[in-house]
Amino acid sequence: MEKLEKKDKIEKISHSLKDTQKIAKEFSNNLNQGDVIALYGPLGSGKTFFVKEVAKSLGVKDYITSPSFTILNEYNASLPIYHFDFYRLKNEKEIEEIGFSDFLNRKGIFFIEWPEKAEYILPDEYIKIVFKIIDKNSRKITMLTVRNDKQEK
Ligand SMILES: Nc1ncnc2c1ncn2[C@@H]1O[C@H](COP(=O)(O)OP(=O)(O)O)[C@@H](O)[C@H]1O
Ligand SMILES: [Mg+2]
Repeated sequence: MEKLEKKDKIEKISHSLKDTQKIAKEFSNNLNQGDVIALYGPLGSGKTFFVKEVAKSLGVKDYITSPSFTILNEYNASLPIYHFDFYRLKNEKEIEEIGFSDFLNRKGIFFIEWPEKAEYILPDEYIKIVFKIIDKNSRKITMLTVRNDKQEK
């Protein structure tokens, strides 16, 4: 996949799980230690599936449990992967309670589903991925690097 440069936008159409797998694999090739990836899109748009496929590409062999009912799953791959899902978080206090900011100081790669619940907590620069449901088996996946203008200073 093309390297994600600032302000560049990559749009992919996936027509199947296999397509999404391929997109996730290509995406994983360009990830670096410390990257934060914010995943937007409605329920069932493929955020969790995508993260699991990236984790597999980075060498996670074990079955990866769905984070739907937990806030954080950790996978050990070539780099540690921290997979957050803020869906069930009610307020900013809960996000602070899980120590999200401290996690970002660790060595690893960070994925966040439902980042809109706490955009101010995201770093200066992060990778944004937007999932759109086109139909039952098709998804539009848009990837770009963005600067965080909602950050608390
Ligand atoms: N092209 C596709 N890419 C990803 N998921 C797809 C695709 N087509 C159908 N799906 C289905 O959409 C659902 C996505 O679920 P999930 O990844 O948990 O979504 P989210 O985390 O966004 O709520 C899965 O049931 C998956 O099988
Ligand atoms: Mg999910």
